[in-house]
Amino acid sequence: MKIRANKNILKVKPYVPGKPISEVKREFGLKHVIKLASNENPFPPSPKVLKAIAKAATEVNRYPDAGCFELRQAISRTLKVKPEQLVFGCGSDEVIVLALRAFIEPGDEVVLAKPSFLVYSIASAAAGAMLVEVPLQGLRYDLAAMKKAVNGRTKIVFIGNPDNPSGQYVTKKEIAEFLKDFPEDVLVFFDEAYFEFVDAKDYPDTLALLKTRKNVIVARTFSKIYGLAGLRVGYGIMDAEVADLLNRAREPFNVTSVAQDAAVAALKDQPYYAKVRKILVRERDEMCAALQKMGVAYSKGATNFIQVCLPRSSQEVTLALIKKGVIVRDMSAWGLANYIRVTIGAPAENKKFLKALRSIL
Ligand SMILES: Cc1ncc(COP(=O)(O)O)c(C=O)c1O
Repeated sequence: MKIRANKNILKVKPYVPGKPISEVKREFGLKHVIKLASNENPFPPSPKVLKAIAKAATEVNRYPDAGCFELRQAISRTLKVKPEQLVFGCGSDEVIVLALRAFIEPGDEVVLAKPSFLVYSIASAAAGAMLVEVPLQGLRYDLAAMKKAVNGRTKIVFIGNPDNPSGQYVTKKEIAEFLKDFPEDVLVFFDEAYFEFVDAKDYPDTLALLKTRKNVIVARTFSKIYGLAGLRVGYGIMDAEVADLLNRAREPFNVTSVAQDAAVAALKDQPYYAKVRKILVRERDEMCAALQKMGVAYSKGATNFIQVCLPRSSQEVTLALIKKGVIVRDMSAWGLANYIRVTIGAPAENKKFLKALRSIL
């Protein structure tokens, strides 16, 4: 090819998503396939959300509201933050991209854990940042080492809390220590995609940090507990001055009108999502108890997925599970040899996974 590609893009290893159900059905000639590979919510959106989606669908000949007015008001009221502190994205993935676009210049560094959520490294490399990756200790962040990795070239530190694929969170105390004497010109990006699943008392209140700090972004999403992954809507909460910068880097119509209306309806239907959460947390505990009974090691985490540590090659077991119609994520590419990541599904799906795993092992 003679056209000269962006050198940063050439360095990016393409993201490999979990295999879609339709592809597995085709490839293996299967009728029933379940996917526990992408940390999705197994339940459909609430009936009220589906109604809002159907209504919004009749108006998609119009461009969406570029300012996400209704959604902005709703979140600002719920979280008690100013509307101008919010930036909306096509999923919280886009908030990550916008932060990088707003702050990274050639030669800048970002600090992240390894392994961590892949979008941090992919989007950082694409933005031309140098990656400084700090290995996890066990499956937990080594915040002391991450702080040591910060220097005059660092622009952003990414903290997935809880992170994916580890499922682990950093505590309030650990964050307080990390932020002690932390440089005010380095952004700390807290990615809280799964925060609704955490009920630990020592989980940090990052919104409180925003009252005294300008260098914090907190990203959240409608893709996980609210089950709107296919509509792509997430947001970041930050100082209004920082939000202004991210908004300058944003395409005006990045959140569709259907996504905006669905998110507003989802926020209003808390009883439905409380039920969903209760089922998923119960299923997570039951899945762990069943694995324990089978003598299979696992790491529970604070999210809607778990890590299962296998006595055999995870590649082999992942393929054997696929042949039985169960898609999970092989973690060997993340450097977690013999681990598979399993998303908590609906009760029947979890039973199917456990039965398949039992027969394979
Ligand atoms: C840690 C983490 N952050 C962010 C996201 C992205 O979510 P969204 O669908 O909002 O882009 C994911 C999705 O899997 C995730 O695991």
